[in-house]
Amino acid sequence: MAKEVWAGGNMLYPLPVVMVSCANEAGERDIVTVAWTGTVCTNPPMLYISLRPERHSYHIIRESGEFVVNLVSRGLQQACDWCGVRSGRAYDKWAECGLTAAPASTLSHAPLIAEAPVSLECRVVEVKELGSHHMFLAEVTAVQVERELLDERGSLDLARADLTAYSHGTYHELGRELGTFGYSVRKKGAAGKAPKASMPGSSPKGGSKKPGKGATSKGVAGKATASKGPKGMSTTKARKAAKATGTTAKAKGENKPEKHAARKAGKLTPAKDRRTTTYHIPAHDPNHRRSTRKH
Ligand SMILES: Cc1cc2nc3c(=O)[nH]c(=O)nc-3n(C[C@H](O)[C@H](O)[C@H](O)COP(=O)(O)O)c2cc1C
Repeated sequence: MAKEVWAGGNMLYPLPVVMVSCANEAGERDIVTVAWTGTVCTNPPMLYISLRPERHSYHIIRESGEFVVNLVSRGLQQACDWCGVRSGRAYDKWAECGLTAAPASTLSHAPLIAEAPVSLECRVVEVKELGSHHMFLAEVTAVQVERELLDERGSLDLARADLTAYSHGTYHELGRELGTFGYSVRKKGAAGKAPKASMPGSSPKGGSKKPGKGATSKGVAGKATASKGPKGMSTTKARKAAKATGTTAKAKGENKPEKHAARKAGKLTPAKDRRTTTYHIPAHDPNHRRSTRKH
């Protein structure tokens, strides 16, 4: 496939887009939409957000040394966009968007957004002045999770949160589940063989309902994971399944734990019950307006 070489730029997509809530001792509070964010360490749990110093929220976070990262569900998406194009200097974003500030459990000032499905309470440990953006490296001191996201066994079923993603200027719903952590080595016959990748656009429209060539074909993703896997397997269960894979796949070179883990995790759900979303990424045109959008 022929490629174009562009100058270095921001093209790491898709990303989560989050609503960062903050407040300071003086009682100023704000919500800022942030796409330049990510997890950087498992233990201690740490993440970063990068902000331009000209943001109203910037000085609040710099002063208080704390903020809350609120994950964005489908129902919050419009408020998320609005908070990303209006400044707290001119608006009380909480009132304008009808959002409720709820107390964080480990922070002194920053409230969380009660309507968010998951909120990560963060304490700043370092600020790196990188250039256009300053990176706030922070420790996650607590996570508040909406109870309705817990399944009957108390495990987090994040699929219930209807989270959205951001890709090159557009917001997206998440599509059909393609597999769980380590699924590529759990399918019988796949162990030891690396899956053949397919080029963008070569898989059937709307996902891989029918096994196509390469990564979605039988024997790689396989029917069991692509069509009959457990719906919304919780993170805890996925981790357990991955753990089982790591040991067994290496030792025995086959995938028996896969169905076992799926069954243990709950139900094996027929493919027809799943939501299918076409994941549309706009053309990579260097002159496209989105390419020059400043976050
Ligand atoms: C999808 C999206 C992502 C954004 N990501 C960032 C970001 O990562 N860093 C940043 O400084 N601003 C980002 N912005 C812009 C700020 O959210 C925006 O300037 C906001 O109005 C600042 O609010 P404030 O002045 O109340 O802090 C983003 C905006 C949108 C719509």
